[in-house]
Amino acid sequence: MSKLWGGRFTGSVDPVMERFNESLSYDKRMYRADVRGSQAYAKGLVQAGVITEEESEKIHNGLEQVLKEWQDGTFKIVQSDEDIHTANERRLAEIIGSAAGKLHTGRSRNDQVATDMRIWLLEQVDTLSALMKDLLKVTIARAQSEIDHIMPGYTHLQRAQPIRWSHFLLSHCGFFISDLKRLQDLRPRISVLPLGSGPLAGNPFAMPRDLLQKELGFDSLSLNSMQGVADRDFIAEFLFWTTMVMVHISRLAEDLIIYSSSEFGFVTLSDAYSTGSSIMPQKKNPDSLELLRGKTGRVFGDFTGLLMTLKGVPSTYNKDLQEDKEPMFDAAHTIENSLLVLQGVISTMNIHPENMRRSLTDDMLATDLAEYLVRKGIPFRETHHISGSAVRLAEESKISLSQLTLEQLQSLSPKFEKDVEEVFSFETSVERRDVVGGTSRRAVLEQIETVKAVLEK
Ligand code: ARG
Repeated sequence: MSKLWGGRFTGSVDPVMERFNESLSYDKRMYRADVRGSQAYAKGLVQAGVITEEESEKIHNGLEQVLKEWQDGTFKIVQSDEDIHTANERRLAEIIGSAAGKLHTGRSRNDQVATDMRIWLLEQVDTLSALMKDLLKVTIARAQSEIDHIMPGYTHLQRAQPIRWSHFLLSHCGFFISDLKRLQDLRPRISVLPLGSGPLAGNPFAMPRDLLQKELGFDSLSLNSMQGVADRDFIAEFLFWTTMVMVHISRLAEDLIIYSSSEFGFVTLSDAYSTGSSIMPQKKNPDSLELLRGKTGRVFGDFTGLLMTLKGVPSTYNKDLQEDKEPMFDAAHTIENSLLVLQGVISTMNIHPENMRRSLTDDMLATDLAEYLVRKGIPFRETHHISGSAVRLAEESKISLSQLTLEQLQSLSPKFEKDVEEVFSFETSVERRDVVGGTSRRAVLEQIETVKAVLEK
C-alpha cells in the first residue's frame, strides 16, 4: 500500500532527504586520503588477526584500482553512494568480491572521516606552504631590485614620512612570514590520528594503532576515542589561519588598489590581472585585487560558519559534523587561488617611481627638521614645536618648507645653521632610519636576508 502522504515519496528515503544527506558531491575530493586510510587499516587488520595477509593484499590492490579510477575520471558514482567512504567500499566490493566486506571491521565512518580529513588537510598544508614561499620569493625579489625607489609612507592615509618602496613591500612580507610560521605550527595538531577509535568507544579488535600511525606518517595518536571522532578543532584552526591570511592579502590588495588609482599612479597592474569596463573605454580596473579583498569575507564566513556548527554538538559524532567539509574545501580552494593570483599580480605589475617621487613633499621632512634640532641639543618636545612653526610659516608664505631662508628659520630658533639644508633630502631621511627594521638601504637589505633565511628553512 502506498503511503498516505504518497506523492514524491517513492522509496524508503525521501529523494529530497537523499540529496540533503549526501556528501559525495564534495567529499569525493578526499578519494586519495580515503584509499590511503583504508590501505593502512587493512594492514592493521592483519596484525589484529582479523584478515589474512592475502586478503589485505587483495584489498590493497583493489583500492589502488579505485584510486586509479578516480584519477583518470572513470569512477562511476551510483545512486546509493552517500559519501566517499561508502562509494569506495562499494566499488572495492565490485572489484575484489567478499574480502571487501571485512575492511570495515571495527572501523566506523566516524573515525574514518576524521582520519580522511586530516590526511587531506596535511597535503594542503604542504601545498599552501609552498605557495606562501613562492609569494614571498617573488615579493623580496622585487624589493631587492627596486630598492632605490623612495615613496611616501602613510599613516591615516596621509603622507607621513619617506620610505623605500621595498620597505613597503617588506612590511607585507612580515605578515606573510608570520602566516607561514603559523601554518607550520598547525601541522602537529592536524597530524593526530583518530583511526582506531571506532564509532566512539574504541576498536574492539586489538587494532595496533601505533602501526596505523606509522603507516600514515602521523605525528601522534588521538588520546581518547570519543574525542577522536568529535574533534574538528584542527579545521577551525585551519580556517582561522586562512582567514588571517586573507585579511593580510586584503590589506595589501587595498594598498595596491589605492596606489593604482590615477590619483596616486604608483603602480599599474598588468593586463593579465585587470579588466576593462564594458562602457567606459578609458578604464582599467584592478579586479584581481578587488576579488582578493572580496573573497576575504567569504573565507571569514567559512570560519565563523564552522564554529557555529560546532557549538552545541553533543559528544562524539553527530551529522552536524558533515557540515565541516564544505567550509574547509572552500577556504582551502579560495586561499590557494588567492595566493596564486596575488603572486601573479606582484610579479607582473609595473611601478612608477617618478610618480612616487613627485608625491614626496618637503613637509614630510618636518620630523627630520625637528630631529636636526635634537642633534643640536634641544629637547624633542621643543623641536617638534619649532618645526611645526616652520611648517606654518612656509604655509603662510605659500612656499615649501625647504624654501624657507636660513634667516626665517633662525627667527624660530638660533640653533639653525647653514647645514640645515642637508635635512631636505629624502635620501638622507630614509638613510637615517638605519635601525633593524628601518627603511635605510642597509636595513632593508637586512630584512630581505632575514626573509630569505626563513624561506631556506
Ligand atoms: N559523510 C559523513 C560525514 O562527512 C561520514 C560520517 C558518517 N557517519 C555517520 N555516523 N553517519 O560526516
